[in-house]
Amino acid sequence: MSQPTVFIETYGCQMNVSDSELMLGKLAAEGYAAVQSPEAADVVLLNTCAIREHAETRVIGRLTELRRFLKPDAVLGVTGCMAQRLGPRLLDSDSRVSLVIGPDGYRALPLLIEGARKGERMIATDFDLEEHYEDVQASRFDGVKAWIPVQRGCDYRCTYCIVPFTRGSERSRRLEDVVRETQRVVAEGLTEVVLLGQTVNSYHDGARGFADLLRAVGAVPGLRRLRFTSPHPNDFSDGVIGAMADVDAVCEHVHLPMQSGSSRTLRRMLRRYSREEYLDCVARLRVAIPGLGLTTDIIVGFPGETDEDFRETLSAVREVGFDDAFMFKFSAREGTPATRLPAEMTVPGDLVDARFDELLKTVRGIARDRNFRRVGERCEVLVEKEARKGELMQARSREFRTVLIPGDKRMIGQYHHVELTGTTGSTFTGQIVRERTPLPVSS
Ligand code: 5AD
Ligand code: SF4
Repeated sequence: MSQPTVFIETYGCQMNVSDSELMLGKLAAEGYAAVQSPEAADVVLLNTCAIREHAETRVIGRLTELRRFLKPDAVLGVTGCMAQRLGPRLLDSDSRVSLVIGPDGYRALPLLIEGARKGERMIATDFDLEEHYEDVQASRFDGVKAWIPVQRGCDYRCTYCIVPFTRGSERSRRLEDVVRETQRVVAEGLTEVVLLGQTVNSYHDGARGFADLLRAVGAVPGLRRLRFTSPHPNDFSDGVIGAMADVDAVCEHVHLPMQSGSSRTLRRMLRRYSREEYLDCVARLRVAIPGLGLTTDIIVGFPGETDEDFRETLSAVREVGFDDAFMFKFSAREGTPATRLPAEMTVPGDLVDARFDELLKTVRGIARDRNFRRVGERCEVLVEKEARKGELMQARSREFRTVLIPGDKRMIGQYHHVELTGTTGSTFTGQIVRERTPLPVSS
């Protein structure tokens, strides 16, 4: 038989991107070749997200659409958080789907595909708290940075969140294993690593915590940039912040989900911190790491959110001055505690829309003001890929700013010093300056 082919489409967060890389790695080891379109594939997998209803609706639509493209005998599978959440319901609702695999089931992927090819409908949604896919070598998509999962699952129980249900309890990989994987990717020529976990700074392998991990990974020779996502504010101990400040490779950027600026709402979200504690965490980070870039996640319209609560979110946004934010309208997820709140607490849709628009404007306005003031500054960037428009390349500063610079594909993976020459308000344009050009002396 000719070499079997697989196509994976990934939805949702970086953890899913990383899981897709693991699945492709597992299948490559079994002789599969990855292809870039579903028409050509013997196996088509949608690696899905369940965080908001919208994410699931997109996948349902895509499954219907895919029917038209698939080879008649292709195996169609759904993996990831939606597979875990819906399990057999997915098989019942779509006769074309013959494979449903949750995030802890990818080790058995070749066997499950085998079964599906024989005409059986296969499902694997058991949690496995030991599973880190330690022996699976990921097929990485990105030639510049490596996503390295260090922790799976989540032990927080934020009342809106489906993740603890779809990814199970928190467990961490052994520090040595993470260091070994970092050494391997650096040997392959990558110079940036992003450590992944649902609450990544609560990492603990039984003996070592996140501060130890940052120091150990940051010491790998040849690694130039170390990032992590997403941390929880409560897990920024002085030890972790100290390690971030000490380790040269750790980038000056933190994505710190706030969710709300109202202590009352935060309490009902079971975020386990107040507005003041969040702001204090930001202050401690900023003192330790000058020039820190800060981004966040915010939910609007959580049940019971009053106008006053929302105003507090706006004022916290102003007080922190985020560089950017991902903003979401609350989406009720089946089985989560927030769905058990009385129906009259639901924030009406048009009010959610209005709040969302106001938040968007506020976040963008603040980012724009900050960014216009930065034009003329210099920074180091890593060239990541071709930009969507023009003859430009997309590069990133250590603070996570996007900078478009003139150049071509040969520059991918290179570091350059640039001067920021302009901004749209969110992204920058830049010009390469010689590395040894002295920085202007401020008076
Ligand atoms: N509704 C809306 N947004 C949500 N998020 C998580 N669960 C929900 C939900 N039910 C957001 C949070 C989280 C980000 C990944 O998605 O802001 O940080
Ligand atoms: Fe969800 Fe909260 Fe865990 Fe983040 S910390 S994954 S929001 S439960």
